[in-house]
Parts: sequence; structure tokens; C-alpha cells
Amino acid sequence: MYKHPGAGWSIRPFSAADAGSCLSIFRDCLTQMPWRVRNRGQYMILRRALSPQAAWVAQEPDAGVVGFLTLQAPQDYVDHLFVAPDWRFCGVARGLLEVAHQGASGALSLDVDTENMGARRAYEALGWQVVASTGSGSKARQMRLVSP
Ligand SMILES: CC(C)(COP(=O)(O)OP(=O)(O)OC[C@H]1O[C@@H](n2cnc3c(N)ncnc32)[C@H](O)[C@@H]1OP(=O)(O)O)[C@@H](O)C(=O)NCCC(=O)NCCS
Repeated sequence: MYKHPGAGWSIRPFSAADAGSCLSIFRDCLTQMPWRVRNRGQYMILRRALSPQAAWVAQEPDAGVVGFLTLQAPQDYVDHLFVAPDWRFCGVARGLLEVAHQGASGALSLDVDTENMGARRAYEALGWQVVASTGSGSKARQMRLVSP
């Protein structure tokens, strides 16, 4: 198990009992993304992605699940990475990405919305590189990033 000694959280594989917490974090994060159209499809996609083989959660003893990541194998593509607003800047995303990387065959990749400046700064701090954008110029909608 991956543990953060200072912040108190640890990372373990997702289990079915975590689904409600993950959906709740997802919903809270989406409220901070006004550019995203919310629909039931996003929740169904997340439910399908949440499996013990392809998802991990960060858990703190008192707060419970504080973040999660889902990974599409064999592409090593991170399709969800969400950290509860109160638990940002505690290394949770860094830890989840490290655990996902340990089980991957190569570099990880993901897509980030161009409007999502917080996440873009986080990936930049973690050394991820932009390899492509969808759309063009100011109309670019997402950026494909790869891990170091
Ligand atoms: C993006 C997100 C996953 C980052 O999670 P986090 O647990 O706060 O990130 P970490 O604490 O592991 O931080 C990793 C690095 O990124 C930096 N960082 C994190 N968020 C940042 C921000 N908003 N602005 C600038 N830097 C940021 C941290 O300072 C840290 O760098 P350092 O080690 O050099 O200090 C989180 O903000 C989140 O869940 N956002 C909403 C959902 C989302 O956008 N998901 C990504 C979809 S692609």
C-alpha cells in the first residue's frame, strides 16, 4: 500500500463499497467546472470505469475516500483523476499517478480541458508534457498530456 506519512492518506485498489464516495467526489469536482456540460452519461462512464483491477482510491482514516483514479489498460490512459476539494495540494494526485504508473507498461497519458487551469498547472508541476490539442488556437478544447 502507498502511504503518505505526513498527510495521513493511503492508496489502495478500489472496492465496490467506494463507488458512492467516488461519485460524490466526481459530482463536487464537476460543480467547479462550469465549462463542462453535466449529463448522466458522464456518471455511467465513471461507474463502468470503477473496478478493482483498474481504479485506485486515496483514503484518510477520518475523512474516508478523498480521491480516486481510473486507468484504461492496455493504453495506460488515465480517464479519471479527481481529488476532493478539501484535500487538494496534499499530494493525493501525485500519489495516485505514481501507483497507476507502477502498474503500467509505459508512460501514462490523459486529456485535460483547456479551461482546466488548475489541473494543467498540476500536471506541469508533475512534469507532464503536452503532445497534442483538439481544436485549434483559442478553440482548442482538450490537450493530450503524457507523463515523464
Ligand atoms: C488536478 C487535481 C487532480 C490535482 O490534485 P492534487 O491532489 O491537489 O495534486 P497534488 O497535491 O498531488 O499536487 C501535485 C503538484 O501539482 C501542484 N498543483 C496542484 N494543483 C495545482 C493548482 N491548482 N495550481 C498550481 N499547482 C497545482 C502541486 O503544488 C504539486 O506540485 P509540487 O509538488 O511541485 O508542489 C485536483 O485539483 C482535482 O481533482 N481537480 C478537479 C478535477 C480535475 O480537474 N481532474 C483532472 C482532470 S484531467
